[in-house]
Amino acid sequence: MNIINLDGAFGKEINNLDLSKVLSKDEIRKVILTFHENGLIRIPGQKLKLKEFERSAEMFGEIKPHFLDHLRFKGHPGILLLSNIMENDQPIGIYEGAAFWHTDVAYEDPPNTATVVYGKKWPTEGCPTHFSSTYAAYDALTDVEKKEFESLKVIHHYGNRSDMDENSQYSAEKLTEEQKKKIQNVYQPLVKTHPVTKRKALYGIAGSSFGIVGMPENEAINLLDELKKHALKPQFRTTVDIKKGEVVAWDAYCTLHKATPQKIATGENDARLLWRASMVGTAPVLEKYQSL
Ligand SMILES: [Fe+2]
Repeated sequence: MNIINLDGAFGKEINNLDLSKVLSKDEIRKVILTFHENGLIRIPGQKLKLKEFERSAEMFGEIKPHFLDHLRFKGHPGILLLSNIMENDQPIGIYEGAAFWHTDVAYEDPPNTATVVYGKKWPTEGCPTHFSSTYAAYDALTDVEKKEFESLKVIHHYGNRSDMDENSQYSAEKLTEEQKKKIQNVYQPLVKTHPVTKRKALYGIAGSSFGIVGMPENEAINLLDELKKHALKPQFRTTVDIKKGEVVAWDAYCTLHKATPQKIATGENDARLLWRASMVGTAPVLEKYQSL
């Protein structure tokens, strides 16, 4: 295994690792510690069957089937497809619905701890995913701000507060009527202490955050928008174009991300297909080894 920096402010690339094989506990530990120390990893050069991808994702936590139950992969409820490929006039997975800054599944309690994706098809003109480190954004706050934000609870529910038009390509994925009935508020700390690294991060400041407990709505939205603007400064950012054969994993507790809007695929050259697993809990290997 050899590990190099990704271009940008944070993240690592892990080379010479074959995830189609069963890894040793030492290899898994190295992957997981690299993941938590950096918040974002890319593992290129893979050729994975679905079962092998699921086993790889399970290194990071427990796979939790996604709220968007109509988009789950048949026979593999823990896997969602992200794609611009159409079948019977419908996208085969999430086509739009992630082209805005967000934290994955911050609208559930407990929220996702990690997201793991695998590139099956890659459009030759590229389709970058943008990331920001909310550890770095927290670290750059003043001591007064850190103290002021410490006790704040953010109100989350499904959606994108910056664009609530469900027909917009920048809004969250459309819900079925049944799913809409299940939407409820959850409350997340604005400053989250990571359970593994014990570092503090600004959490859930974009996407599904719609208010702050005990604060007038306008004031809360202004503060969340200011914090989002702060967290998206170029010095905190990394971009990854997830190519065919690459596994990319991000730590949902200390990053924000957004996808690039796509056009419907017209053929193999512009088709994009990712497998995606959402994780809760922490990596099983950390129970057997000293954590960070
Ligand atoms: Fe996402």
